[in-house]
Amino acid sequence: MSEELFIHTTANREEVYRTLIPQMKALIEGEKNFIANVANTMAAIHQTFGFLWVGCYFVDGNELVLGPFQGPIACTRITKGNGVCGTAWLKNQTIIVPDVELFPGHIACSSLSKSEIVIPLQKKNGDAFGVLDIDSATLNDFNEVDQKYLEQIAVLLNQSHGE
Ligand code: SME
Repeated sequence: MSEELFIHTTANREEVYRTLIPQMKALIEGEKNFIANVANTMAAIHQTFGFLWVGCYFVDGNELVLGPFQGPIACTRITKGNGVCGTAWLKNQTIIVPDVELFPGHIACSSLSKSEIVIPLQKKNGDAFGVLDIDSATLNDFNEVDQKYLEQIAVLLNQSHGE
């Protein structure tokens, strides 16, 4: 892929994902460095949808540690089971939070964050090695369409990770 992202600005969100994912696939398959691929993927999602915060956290012992992201500075470490990220890691499943104020233990890195989706990143054996976290400044901004396509993007990152 060229270093310019094509964004389908007039389409609905599902069509936008359908345009984005082949570009992400080409980008990731053309580069073997995992961190470079994560960094560009976070930038592409952020640039495409304008979400408040798009980033990854990676497992480091009993904590998640901040990885490449786009958006305001964020907390660097999250204990397993804490917040939305730590819970998605513990349960090893995607979590959609329509209203962060109603999620017990939500970690507010930014007061502007209103809703959130967190997708585990998984090794070939199924264990989580990190999470993809997206925060929106709009309430109830994520649904099963986002889950479906963001999980496909997570698979591209899992394949790039290679473990
Ligand atoms: N809100 C997250 C913390 C990470 S920031 O949103 C970037 C959580 O509750 O886990």
